[in-house]
Amino acid sequence: MKDDGSTKLVEGCCRKTAGIARRLNSRAVFLWLVIGYVVMAAAAELVFAQVPLDPRTLMKFKDPLPAPGVMQPTTPGGTYYEVGVWQIGQQLHSQLQPTILWGYGPTQATATYPGATFDVTRGVPIQVRWTNGLGGVIHPMPVDQTIHWADPLGTGPTFAPYLGPIPTVVHLHGGETEAASDGHPDAWFTPGFAIKGMGWVKQIYDYPNDQPATTLWYHDHALGITRLNVYMGLAGFYLIRDPVNEPANLPSGAYEIPIVIQDRMFDVNGQLIYPNLGINPLIHPFWIPEFFGNTILVNGKIWPYLNVEPRKYRFRLLNGSDARFYNLSLSSGQPFIQIGTDGGYLNAPVQVTQLLLAPGERADVVIDFTGLAVGTQILLANNAKAPFPGGAPADPRTVGQIMLFKVVLLTAPDTSVIPATLNTITPLTGTAATRTLTLNEVIGPGGPLAMFLDGKMWDAPVTENPTLGSTETWEIINLTADTHPIHLHLVQFQILSRRGFQVNKYLKAYTAANPIIPVPPGVTYTPVPVGPYLQRGLVPPAANEAGWKDTVRMNPGEVTRIIVRFAPIGSAAVTPYPFDATAAPGYVWHCHILEHEDNEMMRPYTVQP
Ligand code: C2O
Ligand code: CU
Ligand code: CU
Repeated sequence: MKDDGSTKLVEGCCRKTAGIARRLNSRAVFLWLVIGYVVMAAAAELVFAQVPLDPRTLMKFKDPLPAPGVMQPTTPGGTYYEVGVWQIGQQLHSQLQPTILWGYGPTQATATYPGATFDVTRGVPIQVRWTNGLGGVIHPMPVDQTIHWADPLGTGPTFAPYLGPIPTVVHLHGGETEAASDGHPDAWFTPGFAIKGMGWVKQIYDYPNDQPATTLWYHDHALGITRLNVYMGLAGFYLIRDPVNEPANLPSGAYEIPIVIQDRMFDVNGQLIYPNLGINPLIHPFWIPEFFGNTILVNGKIWPYLNVEPRKYRFRLLNGSDARFYNLSLSSGQPFIQIGTDGGYLNAPVQVTQLLLAPGERADVVIDFTGLAVGTQILLANNAKAPFPGGAPADPRTVGQIMLFKVVLLTAPDTSVIPATLNTITPLTGTAATRTLTLNEVIGPGGPLAMFLDGKMWDAPVTENPTLGSTETWEIINLTADTHPIHLHLVQFQILSRRGFQVNKYLKAYTAANPIIPVPPGVTYTPVPVGPYLQRGLVPPAANEAGWKDTVRMNPGEVTRIIVRFAPIGSAAVTPYPFDATAAPGYVWHCHILEHEDNEMMRPYTVQP
């Protein structure tokens, strides 16, 4: 491991491991780590060998779709909640025994997967004391201690499995939230708040609920372990309603159902499997670049069905998967009538027969079953490749199917209405600055080693530092082979365009300017303007993404431009946040493929006064 290119990659990406090996100046230490890992992995295999379940042995559409419950405040009608993370058992399919999961809830007895839905009203702030009830629990999933992660025990990089207390922290995705309550990846804490990350500020989170009505979701966000904590079940919906400004008479009550789609893998005992062998095991023993499960769950049930009356239904769709994209369609050929995006209502309904959702994205849709005969069955199908867009096709026998709608008798006339005008979105203009940023991937001997934003490591100094109230264009150049859903905290933005560029020519110039990615500490990163490499054909956002977005698909070979105002969503005039958005610990932007976000594809950003 001297001066060849691969050493640089290893040092860049596993700087802590490489750093230790360097300090002790001994190849023996590295070998010891590897041997230790191999022995422990072999022992773990012997004791815990999980036999994978063939998902085709599970009868599809056997269990009804559950609707998540409503999260209850500590006193009825109040605005203060106490919500813990708990280990629970829950039956995910009637042929399976209960699965060990983690759920959110006021108590262990009331915790569920997915977590109950916060149903809040615009202008009515709430407070949530989030706690960690995983005392005594050892993480059932393979925590990789060679990536930059929370590391509560301060062990530093090691190939050993992690047996210590589990760090968790909750982020409200899409929320206009102060940084101290935003679930910063370094704001994690262990049970009893015994050990806390350096970004931890307080126990009780404040949610002002000042933004327009929309579908948000909450999920775990602990540094370098989010993929595993969310995999265990830590996610739920958070709906903001705005009775004064929302369209009246959309389908509601029993006819408005949130739907979170997730993929998982099970063993024959009905327990979750997450692969426990990395693709570069001598560098990262467990980390894999994307998790793709072979079994689909909707609202925590495997391949459920929903009885629907022949009328309109509103579904708030969320892709809550670690890495899988879904390109949804209905077997009846009917359209989804999309009424909202991540951050609120579209200006007008948009009909699509294919609906593509990357991890983290939401789509608020109406499906009109009116006139369909009782007994009609409609499959919600998926044909997105994994990884997206160039990977393996979705197996039509398994992940190509999501859930089934079965038409039953109408119980009452459908009085719901989809208005022709839903919202008035002011297009953002007047960019103060344009940032040119890149998405990078570093390949190791067995495949991807890590992904980076703008060639920098997570812990490099902050470089994205917009001024409060300013508007910026972020022009993001995807240098990888995959689509990455890029997400910014605090804000909702608008997509300006996507445009092809000459990848190889650009890469040549980029590599000449930045020979080592990620740039090692102390080395200056040199942005390379993409203008000269742009190709013809600027593609505006699709009609159903031309609204407020907090997560946007950035395709390979393309430059995606978004316009962001670092101020509350909405009116043409800049209104102030009801909190100090410049306060510590600041915010982050990242890829929402959780395996990427956990291994360097995340950067801090701060708002400047
Ligand atoms: Cu949904 Cu920072 O994440
Ligand atoms: Cu978020
Ligand atoms: Cu990514």
